[in-house]
Amino acid sequence: MATRAIRGATTVKENKKESILNETSRLLRKMIEENNIMNGDIISIIFTVTKDLDAAFPAAAARALGIVHAALLDFPQHEVRDALKMCVRVMMYADMNVMQSEVKHIYLNGAKILRKDLVEEENKIAVALDGPAGSGKSTIAKLVAKKLGLTYIDTGAMYRSVALYCIDKDIDYNNEVDVISELENMNIGILSANKEQRYILNGEDVTELIRSPEVSEGASRVATYKAVREKLVAIQRELASKQSVIMDGRDIGTNVLPNAEIKIFMDGDVEERAKRRYEELSLKGISVTYDEILSDIKQRDHNDSSRAYNPLRKADDAILLDTTNMSIEEVGDFIIGKIDDVIKKD
Ligand code: CDP
Repeated sequence: MATRAIRGATTVKENKKESILNETSRLLRKMIEENNIMNGDIISIIFTVTKDLDAAFPAAAARALGIVHAALLDFPQHEVRDALKMCVRVMMYADMNVMQSEVKHIYLNGAKILRKDLVEEENKIAVALDGPAGSGKSTIAKLVAKKLGLTYIDTGAMYRSVALYCIDKDIDYNNEVDVISELENMNIGILSANKEQRYILNGEDVTELIRSPEVSEGASRVATYKAVREKLVAIQRELASKQSVIMDGRDIGTNVLPNAEIKIFMDGDVEERAKRRYEELSLKGISVTYDEILSDIKQRDHNDSSRAYNPLRKADDAILLDTTNMSIEEVGDFIIGKIDDVIKKD
């Protein structure tokens, strides 16, 4: 065994003895449990409190937990302007059987913001949003991402990037062999700029270029090719492994992130979906008729649902949401409510 240092911090709602001792006790218990420490192996604990917490000594919480042999000491926290208020910080030294790099540091309540890097890893969530074209996925995903601080990943943009590459290079996207032979030359990535995602194809920002009807049609073709899907799904999983995401697409809940905490399948009447897409493209100045959009969406619905490899399908554990008669706000509130339920359960 070797001596290891474990950090912890929490915040307290009121400057009352009971609140300080309860929150400190909860923090200590979590530090001990998560790191499998025996009471007798704790050597010492240093506590600091911010100036606004003077109703109790947090060390008293350790004594009340039966930590009687360890050396305990309370300190005032060094005051820094605009730093976290009502905060108890802990440094515990204990003999442990793990490397220092394996120690689990614990941040609770408002103190989570002190170590976002650690908390992110533990409290990472994934929201999977699937459904056909025009069901409102991207609008809702952007809205929810902004409100909850999640990263929005538009997987359709990646299939669109493959289609755009083929169109630009005069490769027939209907020819699977030709498309696959070019796959290794396509470098597809996402760049975060001003809290917005930009889609990058071989170093070029293609975020706007991939929205044309021609690219939509190509995307839905190349999305039926197994090798294309495998390449893009690997990128998508990698992105979700590093951060909390809301990811939209066709196979997110069924294939890309089968363990996502929340899965929503958004649907809607095809005429209503075509109307939304028509209005969206018209606003962007892309000239196209409603009938063309309707037939494009019907064709893509067919391609997406009938392809052999990871077709568009509601995951068994996904919530079905028909958005035909729902406003953006209503759908957003519904999904945020579901995410809140999951976060609170934790
Ligand atoms: O925005 P819209 O729903 O029109 O399409 P998108 O999400 O940008 O996706 C474009 C095309 O990529 C879809 O028609 C699907 O064929 C395909 N796709 C897919 O197969 N799997 C995904 N996870 C995302 C998109």
